[in-house]
Amino acid sequence: MMISPIAAAFATQTGRIALVTGANKGIGFCIAVQLALSGLFSHIVLGCRDPTRGDAAVSRIQAQLNTISPPSASCTTISYLPLTLGDKQSHQQLRKSLEEQFGKVDVLINNAAMAYKGADPTPHEEQCKPTLDVNFRGTVDLTEELLPLLRLGNDARVVNVASMAGRLRQLRSSQLRSKFTSPELTMEELQSYVDQYERDVLDGTYQQKGWGGSNYGMSKLAVIAATRIWAREEAEHGIKVNCCCPGYCDTDMTSHRGTRSPEDGARNAVIPATMEHAPTVESISMIPSFASRGGSPSLFPAHPDPTKYKKLDMAAKKSKADDKAEKVMIPRRKLQSVPDLLANGTNEEDPSTPESWVTKTLWMAFLLLLFYLSFELFLKLDKMSREQNGGNDEL
Ligand SMILES: NC(=O)c1ccc[n+]([C@@H]2O[C@H](COP(=O)([O-])OP(=O)(O)OC[C@H]3O[C@@H](n4cnc5c(N)ncnc54)[C@H](OP(=O)(O)O)[C@@H]3O)[C@@H](O)[C@H]2O)c1
Repeated sequence: MMISPIAAAFATQTGRIALVTGANKGIGFCIAVQLALSGLFSHIVLGCRDPTRGDAAVSRIQAQLNTISPPSASCTTISYLPLTLGDKQSHQQLRKSLEEQFGKVDVLINNAAMAYKGADPTPHEEQCKPTLDVNFRGTVDLTEELLPLLRLGNDARVVNVASMAGRLRQLRSSQLRSKFTSPELTMEELQSYVDQYERDVLDGTYQQKGWGGSNYGMSKLAVIAATRIWAREEAEHGIKVNCCCPGYCDTDMTSHRGTRSPEDGARNAVIPATMEHAPTVESISMIPSFASRGGSPSLFPAHPDPTKYKKLDMAAKKSKADDKAEKVMIPRRKLQSVPDLLANGTNEEDPSTPESWVTKTLWMAFLLLLFYLSFELFLKLDKMSREQNGGNDEL
């Protein structure tokens, strides 16, 4: 692969370090591969909670890099460090290891998250704390732990892998909506709102108080709100903070029902992590994915104007090489800023939302009823015709 001048410029900043959380599989794994292929990093760290899965992911990425000729990313090394998201001690230990090994972090991709399946029998109120502890509180604590190292980075970036399930519209109370979108919102306030949501879920009043119905959706809404806070507060330290939605992807989290490949989903996180002039505050949150052009890893043309992505995206759409990829992609959404992401709806399915199962079950019941009625009608018509023929089956 040819390294672009931009890549070369980045690389000459020497020793750029990226950390991807939850990188042993799914979208996180693909993010790590794409960051390695970008040629912009000297080292990619996979933050994983299971050493066997972490080591296996390192070997798989290394094997992929070795197949590229000339080995463009041979200068990129991959390693695994233990991380249990939501465990403060683990966050501290990871920060210590990164500090000792690299002295800084240039890019943090907060990808790790969990979602209960729609069919999981765990009651909604028991799913609440674990979901918030990992997806929101864990992400906040880890990021705050690493901010001092990011401030030492070159052109440092944070990308939070959020979700359109975190849309603002899930909040039925307009008061709550304005709290979450306040431009002066602080992290302490945000944490207190999330704590309040949890209490209201536990005492069964969350619906009447206007909260959303999905723990996963609420955790992602809070992650988007946290993105805005960090984007605002860390601008003075030169850290660009963005979030993205990968789309509904074919991973373990969706029981492989997602219509989009994890590679495509990963690109939405990789673009703001690698583009030359990443926006921030009024940031890119939803970037139309570039379809892979003949497998070239040079997917990330830097462009200072995020709206241009739409045009580039259209160009990619026309490419013949993309035809196959197009078929598996969900309809492209418009480029949206974080406030838009908070405000807009989506056709993305929330893997943890029971509503999707209710809808499906109702549809199934409707189709079965239709089938049953048709069958009954057929039997009746058949009987009538036999009666007309003298009621003899043999005739
Ligand atoms: N898939 C989608 O359609 C979709 C849509 C919107 C947003 N997203 C977001 O995209 C991100 C990646 O999702 P995915 O679909 O790739 O999910 P996935 O296949 O389930 O992978 C999740 C990754 O996060 C790790 N993880 C989960 N909890 C962790 C914890 N407490 N500590 C450390 N690691 C933890 C998992 O590690 P283990 O292997 O050890 O479990 C795994 O590596 C998530 O933030 C998700 O919310 C996904």
